[in-house]
Amino acid sequence: MTPKVATAVLISGSGSNLQALLDAAVAPDFPASIALVLSNKADAYGLQRAERAGIPTQVISHRDFPTREAFDAAMQEILVNSGVELICLAGFMRLLTPGFVEKWAGRMLNIHPSLLPAFKGLHTHERAIEAGVKFTGCTVHFVSAEMDAGPIIMQATVPVFPDDTPDRLRERVLEAEHRIYPQSLRLAASGRLRIEGGRVIAQDAGTPQGWLANPVYPAIS
Ligand code: GAR
Repeated sequence: MTPKVATAVLISGSGSNLQALLDAAVAPDFPASIALVLSNKADAYGLQRAERAGIPTQVISHRDFPTREAFDAAMQEILVNSGVELICLAGFMRLLTPGFVEKWAGRMLNIHPSLLPAFKGLHTHERAIEAGVKFTGCTVHFVSAEMDAGPIIMQATVPVFPDDTPDRLRERVLEAEHRIYPQSLRLAASGRLRIEGGRVIAQDAGTPQGWLANPVYPAIS
């Protein structure tokens, strides 16, 4: 069998997306293995999830470094030493320097709880409700230097109901996140994604579920 692509997951908090990736990675045919979970917060609950799954963890606090560059250089050293080839940002709430992003161009994924480019940044669900949108969703994308931007790999839409609170909407969006992040990692780790002119082209998206049928996400043979 082809060796799995060693992947690091970077977290800052609860790690429910990390859990979805850990669960998916258990399948023998999943093309990525979670080789390292790195957190910038010592109390991130995701660290416990990783430990339960027997995955090595590291905590590296941005507060211990004078600059973003120094923090990113220290992270880079950990990542290179651990031999990972892909990075998944999963609720990692730090802005990364352009130098770091460049080193991982096309090999670093992020998930964001909105249909990008709408609602970048924080408080996405409050802002979606406030704006009165009828649908929101989530996006997995390759990371570029600009915050919550970069070639889009996959999106899922989620309805916004009239009586939604930000918490109820967050829960609904998270369910969608937990579906599309593993699927996106599967495609990235099996080498079936390429970036052309800022767009992601997927080779054989293999999408039996209707919710993935998406005109900006064509299956090509
Ligand atoms: C998720 O909703 C993720 O999309 C969001 O943080 C949450 C982390 O939850 N990320 C961003 O807002 C990135 N801009 P989790 O720790 O339970 O996976």
